[in-house]
Amino acid sequence: MRRFAVLGNQNATSQSLMSSSKPLILRPSQDGISCAAALLSKGALVAFPTETVYGLGADARNGQAVAAIYEAKARPSFNPLIVHVPDVETAKVYGHWSENADLLAQTFWPGPLSLVLPLKDDHGLSGLVTAGLDSVALRVPAHPAARKLLMAFGGPVAAPSANPSGRISPTTAAHVTAGLGSKATGILDDGPCSVGLESTIVGVTGAPALLRSGGVTREDIEAVLGVALDDPMQGQISAPGQLASHYAPKAQVRLEATNKRDDEVLLGYGPIEGDINLSPEGDLKEAAARLFECLHELDATGRPIAVAPVPKNGLGAAINDRLRRAAAPR
Ligand code: TXA
Ligand code: MG
Repeated sequence: MRRFAVLGNQNATSQSLMSSSKPLILRPSQDGISCAAALLSKGALVAFPTETVYGLGADARNGQAVAAIYEAKARPSFNPLIVHVPDVETAKVYGHWSENADLLAQTFWPGPLSLVLPLKDDHGLSGLVTAGLDSVALRVPAHPAARKLLMAFGGPVAAPSANPSGRISPTTAAHVTAGLGSKATGILDDGPCSVGLESTIVGVTGAPALLRSGGVTREDIEAVLGVALDDPMQGQISAPGQLASHYAPKAQVRLEATNKRDDEVLLGYGPIEGDINLSPEGDLKEAAARLFECLHELDATGRPIAVAPVPKNGLGAAINDRLRRAAAPR
């Protein structure tokens, strides 16, 4: 009922929705997209699907809206946000472009890759987005609903993953609601995310560096650039996704498990069946897409989680990265 009221009289109702106690669930229809874009324009938070994970979006030029992201996630304010834009041309408004940026953008955009570029002057972004750095992370997502939203909104959208800081990232609208309650005014629901791991972050402010492994593999990026990616210096937090304990379930996590101990639940892979299996066939793409969903499900049992070994090559690098952080002491 409420949805029809909103769609019928968008301006009046989006104002009242911002103080509403439940997020408005929107579908990626033309009306749903327009409503989501109108909410962003008014400074509200809107969760939306990307092919990687659901993002918690705000107008990246609106300091109050961006501050609300940090508040909703209880995110440390030194942890900068990725700015989502509809195309390369718009990315160039915010970041100084280079040959490497061009090679990567031509090959992987739209898609699960974020580029960290030197920030341009007169960028118009809220200083909170970049956490005061002189660089900016930019991404052109491939998800059709995200693309439609970015085009309808017509501005840069700052969006971290739509989960409380340090917790498992959301790959469904239900995960967003479970983690953030009514902190997003609207949630654009278009089902589960296909990649299921966050974007790979590559720094191109100097020699290209892998700041976070993710949906595009290191191997594929190095093949395009023709050079090996630098690894960020040990101990230096240039992407706080590198904090040791991140993506953490509430439960304890034990890795490289071939069987269950005590009251554990087992996350299987390939022939190690487990209580649920990331991919019985041993397909890393399927395992990546299911990883956070499976962790959410096992975490809900309240029991410690054991995880079967997952190969380290290709997408396995990002899967193992998230698993190590889930298991890190906190
Ligand atoms: O797939 C994704 O990237 C998702 C979807 C929603 O796009 N977003 C996401 O955002 O994972 P978030 O905030 O959870 O992770 C962003 C990462 C953080 O680790 C942050 O430190 C890093 O990007 N980052 C942002 N700006 C940066 C910058 N200027 N330099 C280095 N790292 C940066
Ligand atoms: Mg995140």
